[in-house]
Amino acid sequence: MAGTLMDRYPSISDLERRAKRRIPSFAWEYLASGTGDDWLVQDNLDAMRRIRFLPEFLKGEINPSTSTELFGVTYNAPIGIAPVGLTSLMWPGADAALAAAAAKHRIPYTLSTVATEKPEISGPAADGMGWFQLYPPKQENLRRDIIDRAANSGFTTLVVTADVPWPSRRERQRKAHVRMPLVIGPKLITQTALRPAWTMALLRRGMPRFRTIEDYPETKSMKTVAGFATASLGNTLSAEYLTAVREQWEGPLVVKGILSPEGARRCVELGADAVQVSNHGARQLNGTVAGIDALAPIVAEVGSDVPVLFDSGVRSGLDVARAIALGASMVFCGRAFMFGLGALGDAGPSHTYEILQDGLVNTMYQVGCTSLDELADRLI
Ligand code: FNR
Repeated sequence: MAGTLMDRYPSISDLERRAKRRIPSFAWEYLASGTGDDWLVQDNLDAMRRIRFLPEFLKGEINPSTSTELFGVTYNAPIGIAPVGLTSLMWPGADAALAAAAAKHRIPYTLSTVATEKPEISGPAADGMGWFQLYPPKQENLRRDIIDRAANSGFTTLVVTADVPWPSRRERQRKAHVRMPLVIGPKLITQTALRPAWTMALLRRGMPRFRTIEDYPETKSMKTVAGFATASLGNTLSAEYLTAVREQWEGPLVVKGILSPEGARRCVELGADAVQVSNHGARQLNGTVAGIDALAPIVAEVGSDVPVLFDSGVRSGLDVARAIALGASMVFCGRAFMFGLGALGDAGPSHTYEILQDGLVNTMYQVGCTSLDELADRLI
């Protein structure tokens, strides 16, 4: 096929369309779905579009820079990879490709507790760009061990996810029989037979496993490990818990999934260095605020003292610019990077980043900004 990757897939929605054709439908349902009737998935995107800029011209020559510093680390752009669980279910080998893209482009990569690679492999692969996401374990010894492993594997920042007090019902996923271990029956075989590139990647890289936690239960059987994950992670987080995490983790600590200014303030009082405003990509509570609508009030509450990070509904460099203009210090994407993987395999995460970064630079030219800080002045 002629043309560069950017000519063929200039937008995240181009990657999404291609990914849907290459990922088996049970895995696609896991990736794309929200919860309930999925209303909030669309609302995250619609709310983004309501944030507009008024350009300023006659600026002479401008050379926008996307480079930014957070927690003493310089990143090439305020664009990060959000934590995603069951990564290799959606694209076999996903974790290595995500870590490699983060290392190449010098952007943060957040490894989920329930991703499919372990911190000991992903930390070094991310080459200083790794952040580790913790679903808070109930048992103290488990929590201590996982946090120690993240620290010893070169992860700089710990992200504690607060917004999964209990598994969401995720009706679409139930109907698609998304569960671990995969039940290998006629439906699954048919769905994978229709997706040869995914199946070939699976044959090369093996079945997805929860590698970070698989050594803790009595056996590594997927059924035992999946049951262990459900029973051990979550329904735990409290002020005391966060304080204990703060005492153990010496690096920057982020609490992810915060939507209220009061909640953000409380996290900071308990020792968090930042909060990540997020509605979990609309996957937990269908009847809450669109992610982007929660950002400005939280920045107003804590923003001058504390970095505020953002995710949920980011699909373009323009969206990154919108969140930065509203006060975010770093903007994360979950599905966008997975769409890249589904569409292009290992080359996908890099291309996703290039779409987002190029779109951010282009937006800065269009509105007349040289630095990220100026974007706020162009908001309508
Ligand atoms: C997630 N998300 C998530 N968050 C987290 O803290 N730990 C996790 O393991 C996961 N797993 C996960 C799986 C999948 C398939 C998706 C789509 C999302 C939420 C994620 O970090 C982020 O908040 C959202 O993806 C942001 O919304 P967008 O970018 O997908 O619109």
